[in-house]
Amino acid sequence: MMRNTIRIGLIGTGFMGKAHALAYQAAGNVFDDIPRPMLHAVADLDGARAEGFRNQFGFVKALTEWRALVEDPEIDVVSITTPTLFHKEMALAALAAGKHVHCEKPLTISGADAQEMMLAAEKAGVRTASGFNYLKNPLLKYAREMIASGELGEITDFNGIHAEGFMADPETPWSWRCDPAGGQGAIADVGSHIIAVARFLLGPISEVFAQLDTPIKTRPVKAGEAERKEVGVDDIARMLVVFERGCSGTLQANWLATGRNMQLGFQISGSNGTLVFDQERMNELHYYKAGEDPRSNGFRLIESGPQHPPYGAFCVAGGHHLGFNDLKTIEMAEFIRAIDQGVSATPDFREAWEVQRLIDAAVMAHRNGSWARL
Ligand SMILES: NC(=O)c1ccc[n+]([C@@H]2O[C@H](COP(=O)([O-])OP(=O)(O)OC[C@H]3O[C@@H](n4cnc5c(N)ncnc54)[C@H](O)[C@@H]3O)[C@@H](O)[C@H]2O)c1
Repeated sequence: MMRNTIRIGLIGTGFMGKAHALAYQAAGNVFDDIPRPMLHAVADLDGARAEGFRNQFGFVKALTEWRALVEDPEIDVVSITTPTLFHKEMALAALAAGKHVHCEKPLTISGADAQEMMLAAEKAGVRTASGFNYLKNPLLKYAREMIASGELGEITDFNGIHAEGFMADPETPWSWRCDPAGGQGAIADVGSHIIAVARFLLGPISEVFAQLDTPIKTRPVKAGEAERKEVGVDDIARMLVVFERGCSGTLQANWLATGRNMQLGFQISGSNGTLVFDQERMNELHYYKAGEDPRSNGFRLIESGPQHPPYGAFCVAGGHHLGFNDLKTIEMAEFIRAIDQGVSATPDFREAWEVQRLIDAAVMAHRNGSWARL
């Protein structure tokens, strides 16, 4: 029997646009229980890039006007991968046209805008998802199970960080990421990921205190130019957080971390054990179990394999390792499966709004010099 199909419209052809196109195609091949995603239309302001994507990935149509894409009656799902400033307008238009919407993280530029998007989606009765791909790591799912089952005992501390160095050079030009009109800086760009991870593992955060810092005050308007423009957002954010479940911890977001490419990591300690993870070694989870013979006890390596679903859908052998694009493939497969089954995807716009609320609260805490309660 022929599998059902689902038609995708993609807006944006940058870093994430490519990740989405690859992931939708792979999802249809890796997972046979979902309708096969068909790449229908791609839109980018830059027509040559859109046309390039049509050739590279086999989209039926290449457009320069995103509104024509969201209004195309042949499209079922709209994927938004443009700079954050544009997410809200595009998502609201796609929701109004009755499309299921995947929107990259951070969902938008403020909690109020995120709430508007979430309510519009819930009213439209369609499915939504936001691009917190790191939550799709089978080892993070296993870590969450370990915590929920009480294997670590009473959790006492969460120490999380998302540090990258892609803005560390003061000569890296000003871009949409430095523009306060497009939302916060590192706290939203990379910080949203570690906030999402913290919530995924330990649940809601009820209080936050924060310090935001901008060590690089200006950047060249374009590569190699003498003229410089003010950086209006944070480069580094340091947060103290209290979880609803009672434990507390720290979160850091940093895009000036020289030499770090993808340090999305955490250490969680509980009365019975500790887990340590770093996305730069995303197939490894380190586990210390308390109470064993101290002469031989220590951190053990849990290496990803088919025993950590859905790893086995990609590869029958352990230790061969998944990569970033595989996480995106799992994310898209779960989204399409949720659409097919008529259930909510996770994380959806509601969860993305929760992340955005925490970012707003942290900024408020920084400005007021006092704790913010959610
Ligand atoms: N999930 C992740 O791990 C991850 C990683 C990187 C970026 N992101 C998020 O993805 C989004 C995009 O980031 P990126 O790094 O891919 O950006 P990018 O600059 O590489 O790509 C943005 C694309 O959008 C296009 N574009 C801009 N305005 C447009 C418009 N009005 N209509 C149509 N196309 C338009 C640009 O031409 C470009 O092709 C951001 O929200 C970012 O936070 C997520």
